[in-house]
Amino acid sequence: MAQEPSTRVLPHELPASLREAGLDHWIREPLDDAVDRRRRIIMPPAAAMIGTPARDYQGALLAEAKHDDTVFMMGDNPELPKMPERPTLRDFYLLRFGPIPRMHLLQSARVARENGLDEKVIMACLLHDIAIAGLLSANHGYWGAQLVAPYVDEEVAWAIEKHEALRYFPDESAGYIYPAAYIDYFGPDYSPPEYLRREAETARRHRWYMTSRLVTINDIYSFDPGVTVDFDDFEDVVGRHFRQPAEGLGFDGSPVAHMWRTMIWPNNFL
Ligand SMILES: [Fe+2]
Ligand SMILES: [Fe+2]
Repeated sequence: MAQEPSTRVLPHELPASLREAGLDHWIREPLDDAVDRRRRIIMPPAAAMIGTPARDYQGALLAEAKHDDTVFMMGDNPELPKMPERPTLRDFYLLRFGPIPRMHLLQSARVARENGLDEKVIMACLLHDIAIAGLLSANHGYWGAQLVAPYVDEEVAWAIEKHEALRYFPDESAGYIYPAAYIDYFGPDYSPPEYLRREAETARRHRWYMTSRLVTINDIYSFDPGVTVDFDDFEDVVGRHFRQPAEGLGFDGSPVAHMWRTMIWPNNFL
């Protein structure tokens, strides 16, 4: 039987300025005793606030924490499914990644497998946008490569890093054209910055070029709605190509453990 929420504490009134800014969504009212009947404020991270009106409300959110019934979010956000003590890649996929990027990754890996590609390419496809799925979108190839570097073959991490730049540059000899989705996303007149141009040129001369190029070729946005792909369909590939740390991702003391912890507790104030 579902547990009834216990007596609801009537919170003090939220300042009108925060309500008008839509920031009441960043404050969780207490739901039940499990949340110790205190409100939890989520301070949006700087990377999400800079350049948006939300930054002007940082002070008002900080002021909210002065109330006795209010604290900043630290630890498990009751809105999110609780992660196991020793989280695996699968847990991040199922409990943290949003349905759209999750399906994008799974479908890309599925297409790579159907195309009979090497398992390293399938693994790279399965991981190539995990930064978008769980951490940050800007520079996602680089964040994604760092996230997985301690756990995958160097070639897989390299392919993930470089796919970001290679995505902008067609290579018809390899069967890759500029993505139609990018015309929608960035407009037909978008020109990638010089550093990405240089990155793509260097990548093209690298011995692992085709591994990364194949990630971009299998990086598809048109999904077959009739096909659902399960993370467990790739259990064998993940088992062979992802060195899951025994302590769990986020707790193995690796140089990237903090990045996984950020995905476990993405709303922590600090
Ligand atoms: Fe990508
Ligand atoms: Fe992608």
